[in-house]
Amino acid sequence: MNRQLMCVTCGSTYPLEERRLRCDCGGLLDVQIDMDGAPSSEALAATFESRLPSRLPQDLSGVWRYRELVLDLPADDIVTFPEGRTNLYALDPTPLGLSALWAKHEGENPTGSFKDRGMTVAVSWARHQGARALICASTGNTSASLAAYGARAHLPVFVLIPEGKIAQGKLAQALAYGAHTLQIDGGFDDAMHAVEQMATQHNLTLVNSLNPFRLEGQKTIILDSFFQLGQMLPDWIIVPGGNLGNTSAFGKALIEMKALGLIDRVPRLAVIQAEGASPFARAAQSDFQHFEPMQPETVATAIRIGNPVNYTKAMRAIRFTDGVVTSVTDAEILQAKHDLDRQAIGCEPASAATLAGLRRLTREHVVRPGESALLIITGNLLKDPDTTIALATGKTATLGIQRAPSLDACVNEPRHVSSDPETIALIIEEELQ
Ligand code: F0G
Repeated sequence: MNRQLMCVTCGSTYPLEERRLRCDCGGLLDVQIDMDGAPSSEALAATFESRLPSRLPQDLSGVWRYRELVLDLPADDIVTFPEGRTNLYALDPTPLGLSALWAKHEGENPTGSFKDRGMTVAVSWARHQGARALICASTGNTSASLAAYGARAHLPVFVLIPEGKIAQGKLAQALAYGAHTLQIDGGFDDAMHAVEQMATQHNLTLVNSLNPFRLEGQKTIILDSFFQLGQMLPDWIIVPGGNLGNTSAFGKALIEMKALGLIDRVPRLAVIQAEGASPFARAAQSDFQHFEPMQPETVATAIRIGNPVNYTKAMRAIRFTDGVVTSVTDAEILQAKHDLDRQAIGCEPASAATLAGLRRLTREHVVRPGESALLIITGNLLKDPDTTIALATGKTATLGIQRAPSLDACVNEPRHVSSDPETIALIIEEELQ
């Protein structure tokens, strides 16, 4: 299928190969797929399903398996681990009065977050175009993912991160995979501003979600879920919102799936932000008439973003899906993280915002009894061991969280014991009482 770049604000188009991050009008660019002459939905679905038994890397990938809707590239140009094909877990829907509840664990990707789905596309395209070096701003996961894909593609990688504000697991990955790691004084928004300024002038390929090829890969979270659920989607899809790349990608996926006839009914998107970093939720309150960037602060460092670059595309996603945007407190996020962790759906705080948000939306009767929902778990528990241990040892005050009595039940402190088997056995018997 033919593709071109198209501005989401003014509709101007540019050739796919043109190296530009924005339209001349400043608007965001989409990779627009020409749907004329697209195969029927049945033929597309059959092609995607037929790749399941294949052992080719591009078929094993839960991104490139859907390549007709992602990007047309020669197999040799594809930089893949492979990624995607993450598990979709059924959770107990009854406490929330739902008919079904699932969690798609994007933390099971090769570098432990959903970013790999977008990165395989952005880095493959960059290599195909002969990129000199790759760069991103990051709250941590994008830098870990870029460092990994850059290493596989043998391309130099530069990552800009807010000093002291990214989780240790993510920093460790960027360093280990050999990325040039630049820690800046400001926050993510400052880093994002800096990389966008530099990228074009210095011939560096920017792979933040401003890069529309990233979003083409992230659409496959929806496609994967659709096929895992037997070619259906639930009433609600719940996703955390930071820079709003996923929100934008999900909206685009649903627009295209509807246009192709893969779905008749569009599920509603619910975007959840942390209260201290909720510019999109605030804008939604005025039906997007007003947007104010904010100084972000939250325990969920992955979504500590006050000026999301994908605002316009995310707004389109909310409008198309009759979606909602809400925010939750840090204490609610940690409570939800504990509840997911205890079901071994281990995740980082930003991902747990989904369950916290769903709880809020059911309390407020936005999500109604008997409806079904899918939580997008965006990052792995091991990304942020410090927060997990602070929660388990009752030290959430060190994370800047106001005392919340409900978090007391999350404590599971390690105990010091002697190595004497009798003493240990006694303790075990005591615990089993
Ligand atoms: N969850 C996790 C674990 C993330 O790392 C991010 C974003 C989000 C949710 C929010 O996704 O930006 O598409 O709305 N992390 C970026 C990064 C910003 O640099 O790693 P979004």
